[in-house]
Amino acid sequence: MELFIWSEECSVGIPELDAQHRQLLEVLAELVKSTKSGESAAFAPIALERLEKYGTRHLLREEMVLRIRGYPHYLEHKAEHEVYRQKFVALQSNLARRDLAIRVVNFLGEWWKSHIMISDQEYARYFRGRPPAP
Ligand SMILES: [Fe+2]
Ligand SMILES: [Fe+2]
Repeated sequence: MELFIWSEECSVGIPELDAQHRQLLEVLAELVKSTKSGESAAFAPIALERLEKYGTRHLLREEMVLRIRGYPHYLEHKAEHEVYRQKFVALQSNLARRDLAIRVVNFLGEWWKSHIMISDQEYARYFRGRPPAP
C-alpha cells in the first residue's frame, strides 16, 4: 500500500472505527499540504484541536469495543493509547513552536505505522470470523 493512503488493508473490519481512522489520515494529509503551501503555522493548532476530538472519541470508543468483545490484549492496547495521550499533551504544550506542524506530522505518521497498522490490525485479525458484540 502507499503510505498514508487509505486502502482495504487499513480496515479493522468495524465501520465506525475505520471512519475515525480515515479522519486521522485526512488531518495528516491536510497538515502535510499546509507545510508545502506555507500555511502550517496557522493550520497546525487547528489540526491539534481536531486531533484532540479524535483522541478522546476514537481511543475511548476503540477501548470500549475491545473490552466488551473480550479482546485478550486489551490492557496492552490501552497502554499504547496512554502513550499517545501523553505525547499528545506534550505537543499541545508546545503550540508556539515554529516546527509544530512537522512535529505533529511525525507524531501522526509514526502512530499510523506503529499502532494503527500493527496493533489495531492485531485486534482486527483476532475479531475476523468471530461474531460481533452482543
Ligand atoms: Fe485505532
Ligand atoms: Fe488502537
